[in-house]
Amino acid sequence: MAKGLDVGTMNIISARQEGGDTVFVQQRNSFVELDYSDMAEQMLSRSDVLHIKKGDKVYVVGDDALNFANIFNRETRRPMKHGIISADEKSAIPMIKLIIEQVVGEPTHEGEPLFFSTPADPMDSDATTLYHQKTLESILGQMGYEPEPINEGMSVIYSELANQDFTGLGISFGAGMTNVCLAYYAVPVMTFSIARGGDWIDEQAATATGTPVDKVTSTKEDDFTLNFESDVGGIEGALSIYYDNLLDYVIENIAREVDDEDVEEGLDVPVVVTGGTSSPDGFEKLFRERFNEADIPFNISGVRRAREPMYSVARGALVAARSEEGDTGGDGDADAEEVEAED
Ligand SMILES: Nc1ncnc2c1ncn2[C@@H]1O[C@H](COP(=O)(O)OP(=O)(O)OP(=O)(O)O)[C@@H](O)[C@H]1O
Ligand SMILES: [Mg+2]
Repeated sequence: MAKGLDVGTMNIISARQEGGDTVFVQQRNSFVELDYSDMAEQMLSRSDVLHIKKGDKVYVVGDDALNFANIFNRETRRPMKHGIISADEKSAIPMIKLIIEQVVGEPTHEGEPLFFSTPADPMDSDATTLYHQKTLESILGQMGYEPEPINEGMSVIYSELANQDFTGLGISFGAGMTNVCLAYYAVPVMTFSIARGGDWIDEQAATATGTPVDKVTSTKEDDFTLNFESDVGGIEGALSIYYDNLLDYVIENIAREVDDEDVEEGLDVPVVVTGGTSSPDGFEKLFRERFNEADIPFNISGVRRAREPMYSVARGALVAARSEEGDTGGDGDADAEEVEAED
């Protein structure tokens, strides 16, 4: 068997195949530090809350971090920033390790292949992804996996463009970054990332309206629709403005980068957008409008949003891992699954 893992700035998601179904396990990539106390101990021991104790501190990790932060009036902290392990967070590595262990579990056998997503180096900041990638490799290797990095944009191609011969432009709009990949027949010809995504939209809208960032994020994730007519002056109005600005910025960079590369002419390229930031109603339509207005030097056969934007990257990493393993049969392979070699 093989697994896929999406290590994102906001969400860590694993994918594995069970019969004809792909099973996902997800945790928020965040944690909160609390003072060790009897009350906390009781709350922790009564449930399956993911946590570790260190000296007189308790760290609650993953999805529960936000609940505990609210109860104890603390801020959540995040192991990653702009797509890579955060240099500003001293506890980043032990926390991310704990979340990864919970999300992927033990390997089914020593050396089980696991493809994990890594961003491309950002074109608009000095950050590089090497340290991030190598750190994840070593965490996963210590767990007994055979880890293999896969570019986040390439994962999108694997998950969304199988019916188009793995040819097209895939764009993952995440929290810390936007990852772009153009591939022909599963060969990436252009990959880059932009160090802006949902977090950037939230920060900008928070500053513009004088609202706490957490409030902006929850407004955005809770039933927000992209449009420019309603809520002028409010949080949703500000979100729409910065969404539009992010799309312009990303599309401008695509137009510029593609120009530099020698893109095959005469091919109609399908475009897929995905990632949590592509979720709101109105996103696909606005992206399509802006993209069609831009000066893109190749023909587009269509623009669509992935059906399950949060899961594209994990699913693509799994597809890549399984095809490397030679285990590509999607539907009819349920019986082949439990075969075990004995020596
Ligand atoms: N329903 C929603 N509407 C709008 N935004 C959403 C919604 N759900 C999630 N998001 C946003 O999507 C982003 C998280 O998406 P995703 O999980 O794809 O990112 P990530 O993979 O963790 O980050 P990255 O790829 O940048 O490292 C966050 O900014 C989050 O606020
Ligand atoms: Mg992502």
